[in-house]
Amino acid sequence: MESKHTQWLEINAKALEHNIRQFQSLLGEERRLLAMVKANAYGHGMREVSQIALKSGVDWLGVNSIDEALILRNQGIQCPILCVGYIPLHRLKDAVQNKIRMTVYNEDSIKELAQICRSQNIKAHLHIKVETGTYRQGIHEQEVIPFINHIRKHKGLVIEGVSSHFANIEDTTDHSYAENQLNRFQNFIRIIEKQGVQVPFKHMACSAAVILFPQTYFNMARIGIGMYGLWPSNEVYVSSLLRESPQFVLKPVLSWKTRVAQVKRVPKHEFIGYGCTYKTTRDTCLAVIPVGYYDGYSRGLSNASYVLIKGKRAPVRGRVAMNFIMADITDIPSVQVEDPVTLIGKEKGDSFTVDQMASLIGTINYEVTARIRPGISRIVV
Ligand SMILES: Cc1ncc(COP(=O)(O)O)c(C=O)c1O
Repeated sequence: MESKHTQWLEINAKALEHNIRQFQSLLGEERRLLAMVKANAYGHGMREVSQIALKSGVDWLGVNSIDEALILRNQGIQCPILCVGYIPLHRLKDAVQNKIRMTVYNEDSIKELAQICRSQNIKAHLHIKVETGTYRQGIHEQEVIPFINHIRKHKGLVIEGVSSHFANIEDTTDHSYAENQLNRFQNFIRIIEKQGVQVPFKHMACSAAVILFPQTYFNMARIGIGMYGLWPSNEVYVSSLLRESPQFVLKPVLSWKTRVAQVKRVPKHEFIGYGCTYKTTRDTCLAVIPVGYYDGYSRGLSNASYVLIKGKRAPVRGRVAMNFIMADITDIPSVQVEDPVTLIGKEKGDSFTVDQMASLIGTINYEVTARIRPGISRIVV
């Protein structure tokens, strides 16, 4: 086995490049592509993904926190970085000094930023988030003119963008709510431009929007899940099949691997794992596997999922523990300690996907990958 680790993620650089090219071809050359690498690049490894994405021609990176932004800057990344999450007032200085673009929607943040820019004689690049119906971050229509006027009073504050985010574009094939949000966004842009403000970047599109609706592109899109080779939802996949454009193919980027820690024989009618939730129905051969819920392998997969060993399915028996699972290898001959195990990914023609894992535990693919423990090594292959 090549890896020296107990468990590791393989990040397929070619698949990532392919997915980025797919989005680039939809967006066209003149629009900017912002790669969402927040939440440790949806669990894929922010450092690794950012490097590959930039080499593939991504223009901007998107993070959630100032800490994520600074990790990228400390890695030597010079491209524009937009922080889409909240930056506490006492961290705004770090953002300005490191040229991190900020998503703004609070008067308090503007006051603090104005003070920082004045005292340090530097500029802050702001992206105003407008409320179109997600009710997460953003300012209301009636607030937008006073907000802009407040920003324009300060020489150091530059309105670089206006953004919003769709609430209901993934969960449905009825896109009327998304269309309504798009109309509200366009209205915000009209109001802002009527004030004589030129907005260099207008952005609202996420993966689903880019796949389904060219009218959401404006001049920049923020792509997350699709870049990782995962569909935003089944509904988006189905809707995309109805489109005239050539079929859009996404290639999963991540595989999750480990190795067998112990092989043991268990007689018929013995219980396996905490809570005695599984009783053997035959003389059984088990592989003990050194991965558990601490790593992001959900406890909800107890007695539910399978892993791949020698390309064959080994069902998980008993509860997922903090650091271990047990898998039934009775029907897989001659498994030995250190044999490779695939938790997510392909092996010899069979696979276990992020989407399968998500549906077994009643969640979405975003949550499955984002919860994989950051400390696990990410290996670019
Ligand atoms: C503000 C914002 N923009 C863009 C995205 C990217 O969305 P997706 O991963 O669906 O492409 C996200 C993801 O949650 C987000 O929070």
